[in-house]
Amino acid sequence: MANKQLTEEIQKRRIFGIISHPDAGKTTLTEKLLLHGGAIREAGAVKGRHNAKFSTSDWMEIEKQRGISVTSSVMQFEYSGKVISIMDTPGHNDFGEDTYRILTSVDSAVMVIDGAKGIEAQTKKLFKVCSMRGIPIFTFINKMDREAMDPLESMEELEEVLGMPSVAVTWPIGCGLNFQGIYDRLKNVVYLYKIGKTIELGKSGVFGPELEDCLTQNNLTNLRAEIELIEGAGNEFNLQEIKNGKLSPVFFGSALADFGVTPFLDHFLDMSPAPGPRKTTDGIIDPAEEDFSGFIFKIQANMNPAHRDRIAFLRICSGTFERGMTVTLSRTGKPIKLSQSTQLMANERETIDTAYAGDVIGIYDTGTYQIGDTLTTKKEPLFFEPLPTFPPELFARVTPTNSLKAKHFQKGVEQLAQEGAIQVYHNQYNEIIIGAVGALQFEVFEYRLKNEYNSDILMESLDFNVVRWLNTTDLNYVKSCLDSRCMLVFDHFERPLVLFANQFTLNYFVERYKDIELIEALHVN
Ligand code: G4P
Repeated sequence: MANKQLTEEIQKRRIFGIISHPDAGKTTLTEKLLLHGGAIREAGAVKGRHNAKFSTSDWMEIEKQRGISVTSSVMQFEYSGKVISIMDTPGHNDFGEDTYRILTSVDSAVMVIDGAKGIEAQTKKLFKVCSMRGIPIFTFINKMDREAMDPLESMEELEEVLGMPSVAVTWPIGCGLNFQGIYDRLKNVVYLYKIGKTIELGKSGVFGPELEDCLTQNNLTNLRAEIELIEGAGNEFNLQEIKNGKLSPVFFGSALADFGVTPFLDHFLDMSPAPGPRKTTDGIIDPAEEDFSGFIFKIQANMNPAHRDRIAFLRICSGTFERGMTVTLSRTGKPIKLSQSTQLMANERETIDTAYAGDVIGIYDTGTYQIGDTLTTKKEPLFFEPLPTFPPELFARVTPTNSLKAKHFQKGVEQLAQEGAIQVYHNQYNEIIIGAVGALQFEVFEYRLKNEYNSDILMESLDFNVVRWLNTTDLNYVKSCLDSRCMLVFDHFERPLVLFANQFTLNYFVERYKDIELIEALHVN
């Protein structure tokens, strides 16, 4: 493909993940975004999901019921000349390492916050991963049609709890029963809630006469006071800072009422970056380079129970993908023909023939790939920055119930660890300890060992939930410092780490043994 055409395709692409705490409105917002892009044909909330929360399989169920183009993993839609991919970040019970890793494949993130509850635990964790990568983070404060926190307080919370400077792009006018609309500071317009009218403001903005007949006196007075305050004391809008992930643009709205979603989407498309250059171990690769390259950030088994296949998700970082092309797997140097590729978009998986940097494709995997693998048409092997290892918070000791099948067990554990399904450690007695960030990872691990490796296991949960890597070689000294609330284990690179019962035990250890250097695991690799 001519380079100019490839550049145009890349410039059109946006790829982001939504981070939020369960119930903040991620699903509802996703649904509305897809609706605007024409991916969902009917308007209105999906019915009948009172207790059952959306998860991967729910999306598939919805696809079936409504014939819509949604997928469990990537949802792509076109809007305003752009090709937008939303990466599903499993939350709720599906929360696991996948959730974190998916964020390594996106170019920006949208953080959905419940306007009444503010920033909650899961959002904080996911935010940390995004801010570490330096990607732009857009904040959508949702549920303004209900009673909500004072918007100034919400903004303050972002700075205080997350340490993230923010700038309001839209501003709510009242909330709950008094919710009357939002003011778009950049476009200088007010969108009126329920009435569906847009009011263009003059030079004096909200201080001019245009709003006097449309808002209650109370709302108008508050709006003017708040705007005066944020104009005087708030951060200035700075697109470069936003693109560098140093300033979060904030939007208010109601996903359920589909209000404030369009202004958000329009600004998001203006402010969010198209796929950019990526760091590799020896330099930088530009997305418009002719050579194809991409990395695998997720491997999903049993997508279709009837097939028992696995799909490796590949984020294309440069060049054009053509079905049938031959690439090299950099880890092994082996050539692979990519004849079975799929974009996980429609009711049926669609086979795709062409894709560009900034797209995510699924490729069939028969056990060839590992998380973090690079595929490229370059002659020399290529390695992107390693995907971070995320510190697990749940641990269990596992043993095969049938010692005659120890080999199956070992093989299964090894492969599932390689696939990134679980973290595997061993302790000094050679017992296998597994670690995960979400409980579902344990269940999947047990299920897959039984079904794919014919190995039943005993799993005994351990009372640890904090882990630190050790920066010392004097393990005898470390051993002499441990008590029953800590355990020394080794990861698959034989690096030593200590499991602690809780933050309190860790703090105590740090205080007591100042000479032992501990490393928080986020970037160990
Ligand atoms: P999640 O994916 O982040 O977990 O949240 P989800 O979209 O499922 O939303 C959680 C609940 O919050 C849902 O209510 C949803 O309707 C509601 N909700 C989402 N956005 C808004 C909003 O802007 N305003 C209001 N008032 N509610 C919102 P539910 O009772 O659990 O389900 P349902 O019976 O409404 O479908």
